[in-house]
Amino acid sequence: MKIAKKTMILAVLVITISAGSLYLFSKNDIKISSPSGEIILNVVEKDNKLFFNATFNNEKIIDNSSLGFVFSNNDSLIHFKILEFEKNSYDATWKPAWGQFSEIRNNYNELIIKAEDLINNRILNIYFRVYDDGFAFRYEFPDNSKPIIIMEELTEFCFTYDNKSWWIEADYGSLEKLYNVTNISNALNVATPFTMKTAEGNYISILEAEIDNYSSMTLRESDKKRYCFNVSLVPWADGSAVKTEGAFTSPWRCVQVSKNAGGLITSSLVLNLNEPAKDADYSWIKPITYVGIWWEMHLGISEWAMIDNRHGATTENTKKYIDFAANNGIQGVLIEGWNTGWEKWGAEGAYDFTTPYPDFDIKAIVEYAKERNIEIIGHHETGGDIISFEKNLEKAFQFYKDLGINYVKTGYAGGIIPRGEHHHGQYMVNHYNKVMRTAMKYQIMLNVHEPVIPSGLSRTYPNLMTFEGVRGGEWNAWSEGNPPSHTCILPFTRGLAGPMDYTPGIFNIKQDNFEHKRIKRDWQPYTTTESRSTISNQIALMVILYSPWQMAADLIENYENHPAFRLISGMPATWDETIVIEAEIGRYIVMARRSGEKWYVAGITDELERDIKLNFDFLNSSKHFTFLLCKDTEDSHYKNNPESYLIKQQQISSTQHMQIRMAAGGGFIMIIE
Ligand code: NOJ
Ligand code: CA
Repeated sequence: MKIAKKTMILAVLVITISAGSLYLFSKNDIKISSPSGEIILNVVEKDNKLFFNATFNNEKIIDNSSLGFVFSNNDSLIHFKILEFEKNSYDATWKPAWGQFSEIRNNYNELIIKAEDLINNRILNIYFRVYDDGFAFRYEFPDNSKPIIIMEELTEFCFTYDNKSWWIEADYGSLEKLYNVTNISNALNVATPFTMKTAEGNYISILEAEIDNYSSMTLRESDKKRYCFNVSLVPWADGSAVKTEGAFTSPWRCVQVSKNAGGLITSSLVLNLNEPAKDADYSWIKPITYVGIWWEMHLGISEWAMIDNRHGATTENTKKYIDFAANNGIQGVLIEGWNTGWEKWGAEGAYDFTTPYPDFDIKAIVEYAKERNIEIIGHHETGGDIISFEKNLEKAFQFYKDLGINYVKTGYAGGIIPRGEHHHGQYMVNHYNKVMRTAMKYQIMLNVHEPVIPSGLSRTYPNLMTFEGVRGGEWNAWSEGNPPSHTCILPFTRGLAGPMDYTPGIFNIKQDNFEHKRIKRDWQPYTTTESRSTISNQIALMVILYSPWQMAADLIENYENHPAFRLISGMPATWDETIVIEAEIGRYIVMARRSGEKWYVAGITDELERDIKLNFDFLNSSKHFTFLLCKDTEDSHYKNNPESYLIKQQQISSTQHMQIRMAAGGGFIMIIE
């Protein structure tokens, strides 16, 4: 089925086709290179086994790495003979519904290997695509004769050097971790994206595209001396990795490459590997900035549940948020804790997805918002109870749709029911994708918390907009918090997989303005909490950490009449162009993003203060521009003086330079018109 469809697409789009059978080829080494020629990928057949290796920029970055599968019942796909191969090229430009760019070039050379398994004579097709910003491959097993259970994927990534790397531990359930910075020989069990710097200073990241009806991959060290990692698939409760009806297609195993760290961020490899969206009207899909009844619960100022006279999502409180949004250039308001069941969080069948608490008049709220042109963002916390959520899914989406609520945040904070399944295994992949497809039917946009790692499905389903799957700003409210270096790592790691609902924009850094109202919970054991950064850093994060739903997460009381909110007001959540001006992973990053005629330039730094020399050649014009800048002051510091900032408005031309100092844990944000 799948190959037939693919061939049809290729027949229309392919520019050059050269069939392998026409060539006299040595099966032991088939080469394909990127359009620029800088990446060379080899597929090698040796002792009846298949391997790939790759060179970038004249550096061997991946050494011979194996391919294949172990199935259940002592069956496997390990010994192969290459029967034939085919080469194609593709070059086209497409327009995403939203994102970091208004246009994306999709340009690759493709190699399709048709191999025969020597034991049972079954066919395995392997598709390799080589782009200028990386390469990827996926398996296609077309034999539909009987169900197949994959126990193990034998895909390997063998590096050539003990690369420096940025990684989090894989645990099948959570991506909310702080990063380790070690050489790869000290990384044993790694979640993707797995980002590293090579011996010759090139950058690589290993990740996935199009995870559908399959489990997600983690990487396990398999050979320390050869720096090899094996794909380790997140299992089902019964220990198997992937259950199939027979024929299956794996996600793309991707290797992003770049000569500089910034090139990883501006790569569209993962999106390009996904299928285009169906030809339809997506004008209902709109990126937004939002505020919400949210931070107050995390701080312990109010509750999700209607208890102790401390309920957050009341009609009255929500109206205040709607008024604030309407008056301050914000498009949406998130409401958590509006529906009954929160007092039973964690229990089976806890949540009712269609019944509001008695102090929340949902109809009146939607009307009030509509009159003010504000979008209401609904919330489905499931606590991990998939059985109840799936039972109520259509009803819950219909309920929102009838009211006129088009944005829904989902959440899976808790162990999965059915017990034993993992957030990142095939059971949950199928669930997340079912919710995505159902939401598309109802024209509902999604923000998924506690997700499986994003894999670019948003290209095909642009209603799947943003994700958590990151140790976000919420951790600053109830744990030891995130160090300043954390957000300097995220764009080069988790951010490569897709948008992040990090929830930045905190102004009251020490979180003490409403200290008297805060209570401690058992999951919130810290007596003092803070968002270790300066105000300028927090606003800059809204530009640096891309999300088509971008939250200004603080309490509106902390924003009211605050001069720095000018920088957030009217901020776009989708961009025409994105540039990384300067960056060093984990240290600092300076970026520029364009929306129409406006440029947003933003920078953040880690625990060390830094001077940045900014030039404006990206403006591409000698005209004069006006900029509005918010930056740290001479004595700003994320620890001692985090709320100190300076706002400046001035003229500048594209030939001028500017020196900007970022304080320790600081940053800046600049709007150029
Ligand atoms: C965890 C989510 O990440 C957070 O945003 C949400 O407020 C809570 N779960 C409650 O649903
Ligand atoms: Ca979370």
